[in-house]
Amino acid sequence: MELRAAHAAERDEVLDLLALWYGDRGFFARYNLNDPRFCDELCLVAREGGRLIATAQIFDRRIRLDGHAVAAGALGSVFTHPDYRGRGVGSALISLALATMEREGFEVSLLFSDRLNFYGRFGWRSVPRIISIVSPLPRGRLASSLALRRFERGRDLAQVSQIYDQYSGRFNTAVVREPSYWLGNLAFAGNPDEFFVVAANEKSPTARLGWGDAEVTQNLFSLISSKDAMFWTADRF
Ligand SMILES: CC(C)(COP(=O)(O)OP(=O)(O)OC[C@H]1O[C@@H](n2cnc3c(N)ncnc32)[C@H](O)[C@@H]1OP(=O)(O)O)[C@@H](O)C(=O)NCCC(=O)NCCS
Repeated sequence: MELRAAHAAERDEVLDLLALWYGDRGFFARYNLNDPRFCDELCLVAREGGRLIATAQIFDRRIRLDGHAVAAGALGSVFTHPDYRGRGVGSALISLALATMEREGFEVSLLFSDRLNFYGRFGWRSVPRIISIVSPLPRGRLASSLALRRFERGRDLAQVSQIYDQYSGRFNTAVVREPSYWLGNLAFAGNPDEFFVVAANEKSPTARLGWGDAEVTQNLFSLISSKDAMFWTADRF
C-alpha cells in the first residue's frame, strides 16, 4: 500500500472517493477550490493495487491561543473506502498526517468528531464546546434604529470582519480570518442556497452591525426560524 501526499492530478479521484461518504461531492470540491490555503501536499492518500482507498486532509489555519496566532492543522475529510475499513488504513493516514503537521510546523491540531476513542489514541483530547440556543423574542422588539437584512459581501464584509475580530478575537481557538480567508469561507462554508443575515444601524448603514448585541441576536433567531437560512454567529472556530 502506498501512503503519501496527493498529486494535483489525483484531485478528482479524491473527490470521487469522498462522494461515497454522504453523496455530496460538491461539498468537498468547494473546499478544494475556494480555500486559499488548500494544497495537495496537505491532502494525504492511500493507494492499493492502483485504487485510491483512503484520504485525509489537513486544513491550514491560524487560530488564536492566549492572544497569539498559532499555526493549526485542522484534520478533516478522513475517509476509508468501506471495502477497506478496519485494516489500519485510516490509522496509518492519521499517523502520516501527524508527521506531516510536525514537518510543516503546525503547532496544534483540531478536529470535530464523535470518534473520541479513535482519535484519542493518537493524542487528540476532547475539549468542551458551549453552544447557546436563544429563544426567539416576540417580533417587533428590535431597537427601532436597527434593521435586519441579508448579508451582501461588497457592502458588509469589511464590517462583519471587523466585528468578528473584535468579538471572536478574544476567544481561544477562534480562526484568524484574513481577507482572502473570508472570501474563500463565504464560498465553501455552508450550502449554496444558505444565506447570512446582518443587523445594521439604519441611520448609518455602514457604521454598525449588531451580531454581538443580545437583543439583535434573539431577533435574528426569530427571523431565521421562519426561513431556510443559516445564522453565522461570530463563532469560535
Ligand atoms: C473512521 C474511518 C476513516 C476509519 O478508517 P479505517 O481505515 O477503518 O481505520 P482503521 O482500520 O485504522 O481503524 C478503524 C478501527 O479498526 C481497528 N483496526 C485497525 N487496524 C485493525 C486491524 N488490523 N484489525 C482489526 N481492527 C483494526 C481500529 O482500532 C479502529 O477501531 P475503532 O473503530 O474501535 O476505533 C472509516 O471508518 C470511515 O471512513 N468512516 C466514514 C467517514 C468518517 O466517519 N470519517 C471520520 C470523521 S471524523
